[in-house]
Amino acid sequence: MNDATLRQAAIEVLRGNDTGAFIKPAFDQYPHQWNWDAALVAIGLAAVDLPRAKQEVRTLISGQWRDGMIPHILYPSGASEYFPSPEFWGTAGLAHGPDFPTSGLTQPPVLATAIRTLYMRELEVDGASARAFLEETVPAVAAWHRWLLTSRDPTGSGLASIVHPWESGMDNSSRWAAALERIPLDRVPAFERRDLRHVGEDERPVESDYRHFMQLIAIYRDLGWDAAATVSRAPFVVQDVFFNAVLVRANHDLAYLVRELGQSAHEIDGWLERAGRAFQERLWSEDDGLFYDFDARAGAPIRENTSASLAVLYGGVADARQARRIVHEHLLNPDEYAVGAGARYGVPTTARNNPRHEPRRYWRGPVWINMNWFLARGLRDYGFGDLADAVVRDTLDLIRTAGFSEYFDGRDGTPLGAQRFSWSAALTLEALPEA
Ligand code: DGY
Repeated sequence: MNDATLRQAAIEVLRGNDTGAFIKPAFDQYPHQWNWDAALVAIGLAAVDLPRAKQEVRTLISGQWRDGMIPHILYPSGASEYFPSPEFWGTAGLAHGPDFPTSGLTQPPVLATAIRTLYMRELEVDGASARAFLEETVPAVAAWHRWLLTSRDPTGSGLASIVHPWESGMDNSSRWAAALERIPLDRVPAFERRDLRHVGEDERPVESDYRHFMQLIAIYRDLGWDAAATVSRAPFVVQDVFFNAVLVRANHDLAYLVRELGQSAHEIDGWLERAGRAFQERLWSEDDGLFYDFDARAGAPIRENTSASLAVLYGGVADARQARRIVHEHLLNPDEYAVGAGARYGVPTTARNNPRHEPRRYWRGPVWINMNWFLARGLRDYGFGDLADAVVRDTLDLIRTAGFSEYFDGRDGTPLGAQRFSWSAALTLEALPEA
């Protein structure tokens, strides 16, 4: 498939998933708007259909809670056969909540980066409209980041905490296995899984993970989704290394946009300074040459070797020596991530020699297009341009062979999960040379 045909196919996937107000991540499996999906879709659409990309951002912001949180799932068109249903979250009628049904959780904050991408595009053709878009969107993003770095960081450590694996976007990552195992399953609410209607059981989270996901929702629902109560009483509180790397990059982008509006970015500079220190002092492992998550409940780092630790490069928080260690000791290591023996496509979400690696199961090992994209951006920033090119080439080859799947078995490229997945299509548009 040549570039023009691939581009057209990607556009058709996005059109097919478009409801007008938002683009579904996948037609049947994920029929609502998801937070980081929407931001990645907007980035991919920027060069193809700027007004549509702006709409994606506007819909996402319309779900913002009055306390500042931008939620992880938005149900602007009401219920569907997807579970959890809007009612399951119990977020309706909350004084600090949203205007229409949403989940009670958040997701990696890619939005500021998306807005900067759209702004730079529009600036080339219509400065006034580009600026108006910033005036409309930047206050909402700043409020969200402030919420993340206050309500989700009450001690001012510089790192936002997540309170549910779904907030990482990598639901069943092996990073969460030990923290979840410690939580007794004694308050699991009644629920019926629907994710297995469309995708094979061996490609989805195992039942005990799902029971933990539901129990955590029930606990926070009982706390009225009060941010302070949630952080102080949640059984799962993690300073997620990748979430925070995304937040650092987003804060750089937000600071840039705020300055474009002629305003002070002093507060954001303070967030960046604290985060930079915390990454070095709390998340870096000199023994392993990786940044790790910190489990606040256990008071210890989570020493799981996953691609989240590689994609930290996207946040720009590593120094040059740390970046070299991540690349040479891990990304290029044939036992962990390098393409070669037993693996035709990279980059697996869990190192292949990690005992928890499962090449077909959701975030436990398969290749994901967005993680390759984050990693390629990080590699380029650190001067590993050839490696970044190789990751992008490899990713486009995979899509040409296997389609716009949600994720892939890196051993042979078998498509897994939902098909015609929106961010796989959007990031293809972003990766292809412009027409
Ligand atoms: C799901 O339903 O699997 C989603 O990942 C939740 O965000």
